[in-house]
Amino acid sequence: MSSPAVPRTEIAPASIVERLVSFACLAPSVHNTQPWRWRYADGVLTLRADLRRRLPAEDPRGRDLTLSCGAALHHLQFAARALGWETDVVRLPRGADESVLAQVRVLRAGRSPVVPQDLALLRTRCTDRRRFTAWPVPAYRLDDLCRLAAPWGVAAAAIADDGARFRLELLANQALSELGLDPGRQAEQDRWIGRSGADGIPAALLPDDPDPLLARSRFRPGLLEDTRMVLHGGDRVIALGGPYDDVAGWLRTGEAMSALWLEATREGLSVVPMSQPIEVESTRREIGRSVLRGAFEPHLLLRVGWQAIGRSELPRTPRRPLADVLDS
Ligand SMILES: Cc1cc2nc3c(=O)[nH]c(=O)nc-3n(C[C@H](O)[C@H](O)[C@H](O)COP(=O)(O)O)c2cc1C
Repeated sequence: MSSPAVPRTEIAPASIVERLVSFACLAPSVHNTQPWRWRYADGVLTLRADLRRRLPAEDPRGRDLTLSCGAALHHLQFAARALGWETDVVRLPRGADESVLAQVRVLRAGRSPVVPQDLALLRTRCTDRRRFTAWPVPAYRLDDLCRLAAPWGVAAAAIADDGARFRLELLANQALSELGLDPGRQAEQDRWIGRSGADGIPAALLPDDPDPLLARSRFRPGLLEDTRMVLHGGDRVIALGGPYDDVAGWLRTGEAMSALWLEATREGLSVVPMSQPIEVESTRREIGRSVLRGAFEPHLLLRVGWQAIGRSELPRTPRRPLADVLDS
């Protein structure tokens, strides 16, 4: 008598893993540094932080770098599911050196259908820094997005009440002024922004004037002192974070950010990270204390809003070739 067929677990061939890593590398990263390295050996895909791509002045502790790698890790899991594969992820494996952020096994038990819409989302998600429309994003949509963080063990809060939002605006402007005075940070911006090649942010994707209101004025800039606000009317803000400001938390927050951003993209919402208020330690602490009322340590802020209908499609931010980031 023949025994019932037991589904055999299949380990992904290298060709599938290469495809998944290509999708993972579409993830957002700070200054488009793409600070990740992948290695596939003995059925295990290892994700390492590429510490040479850390921003020493703007990101001395590697928070933004780890968030970026977390986003790539989520993109990988999302792509695997969309292609009918399962992933088994071990984060910060014990005994590995500190650059190892995760080890992933890509497996298939049985056949799952491919979800082309999800693969399309990975390709269409982008950072569109053009001014959002004034249409408010309904509170329930923000709450739904925030709820997506919990399965990753990440706290999320929409900064909804007027007082908290006002304090956040002030702190965000304070952080920008501080960063503007730091020559090290400015040099770092110059290095990564407006360059051509496979990384960094092309000038075509950055607003031509930091304050479009001023650009539209009928007068040339005068001497009247005014505050250039970084948040505008239609912008909504979501804070992501956790109980500690540490690598384990940043990695998970990166995954949650990616989950939330892809879902927002599906709904036609635009997401733009706002990391400077978190990069300045004094404003980061104050956001935790007075905006989030001590609920959690903030790791990243996201601006969320609607882009105007019919806007032109943006050119894609470049990516490094797969051979530069994947060893096998
Ligand atoms: C941790 C992190 C911080 C970021 N901070 C900012 C920011 O402060 N301002 C901004 O305009 N974009 C920010 N970005 C977006 C990146 O610049 C963007 O993801 C990158 O240039 C790649 O472009 P893409 O998202 O269109 O693929 C950040 C992204 C990450 C992952």
